Amino acid sequence: MILGITGASGFIGQALTAEALREQRNVILFSRHPKTTPESRSWSDQSLPNIDGCDQLVHLAGESILGLWTKKKRERILMSRREGTRRLIEAIAQSSRKPSLLVSASAIGYYGNNHDSLLDESTCSGNGFLAEVARAWEEEALKAEAYGVRVVLMRIGIVLGRNGTIMKLMIPLFRLGLGGVVGSGKQWMSCIHINDLVRLILQCCDDPSLCGPLNAVMPEPITNATFTKTLGTLLQKPTPCRIPAIALRILLGELSTLLLNSQRVLPQKATRHHYNFKYPTLEKALTEIITG
Ligand SMILES: NC(=O)c1ccc[n+]([C@@H]2O[C@H](COP(=O)([O-])OP(=O)(O)OC[C@H]3O[C@@H](n4cnc5c(N)ncnc54)[C@H](OP(=O)(O)O)[C@@H]3O)[C@@H](O)[C@H]2O)c1
Repeated sequence: MILGITGASGFIGQALTAEALREQRNVILFSRHPKTTPESRSWSDQSLPNIDGCDQLVHLAGESILGLWTKKKRERILMSRREGTRRLIEAIAQSSRKPSLLVSASAIGYYGNNHDSLLDESTCSGNGFLAEVARAWEEEALKAEAYGVRVVLMRIGIVLGRNGTIMKLMIPLFRLGLGGVVGSGKQWMSCIHINDLVRLILQCCDDPSLCGPLNAVMPEPITNATFTKTLGTLLQKPTPCRIPAIALRILLGELSTLLLNSQRVLPQKATRHHYNFKYPTLEKALTEIITG
């Protein structure tokens, strides 16, 4: 069984590749800058990827959403996902031996801004740029079903891991005593530890009954205030700062929605499929990241 991974050089892709290899799975990595080991193939806007031999695909490639959302950046965020997924489906359509599975990354941004409502996989999509991107991305990925491919739309929450940008930014800031609540602090954050995300993706590879939207978040969403307090406590640092929403909007523009939007998402399908979270709470996840 060969697992093809796009965006394999990224934060999630590297962790997934490492775990897949540890479990002695065969992988083919797709990258705009292919290397020789493990086997890598080209991922480009100009041509269809060569998916020959891939039995399962995990599609993670896409322009980073971090950075200022200028018109050009927004175009790259949307196009790299919509067109990239389109090319992958075209490659599936043309291949003589189709893969059995496509796990396509999506994001909880799909749900928009929802205050205190509990969101599960049956909740409708919301408003805003990230919701629009997630809808376009999912719509393309679902087209693989027409070729008999099982499709999982992984609506990924905020991924926490030592090598992820978020923790690399936050831990030093909090260590300097500069941590603090963002906006009202009442907005809900739905996170997942990188190890759980990777194990959940691999569970999708092994469980043929998993398909459709799948929220990849820990079972306990937390508010921004709780996140701030938990990280401060674990680092034994006070968190006196408060960044007002208006300042963030001026500074970051629409990108500020990433920090200010409220998304209280539950992993209903993962729980129904008996996924056993190794890091079910924020405290467990952050403890591993800080001390592990
Ligand atoms: N990390 C999170 O918290 C999070 C949360 C929700 C959803 N997601 C989604 O999950 C996927 C993987 O996330 P990640 O954190 O691993 O992202 P990442 O570290 O930014 O990696 C994404 C990979 O995609 C490729 N890529 C970058 N820009 C591209 C472009 N313009 N066109 C085509 N390919 C491009 C790059 O691989 P090459 O240079 O090797 O081609 C890059 O390593 C992304 O689609 C992301 O939106 C992530």
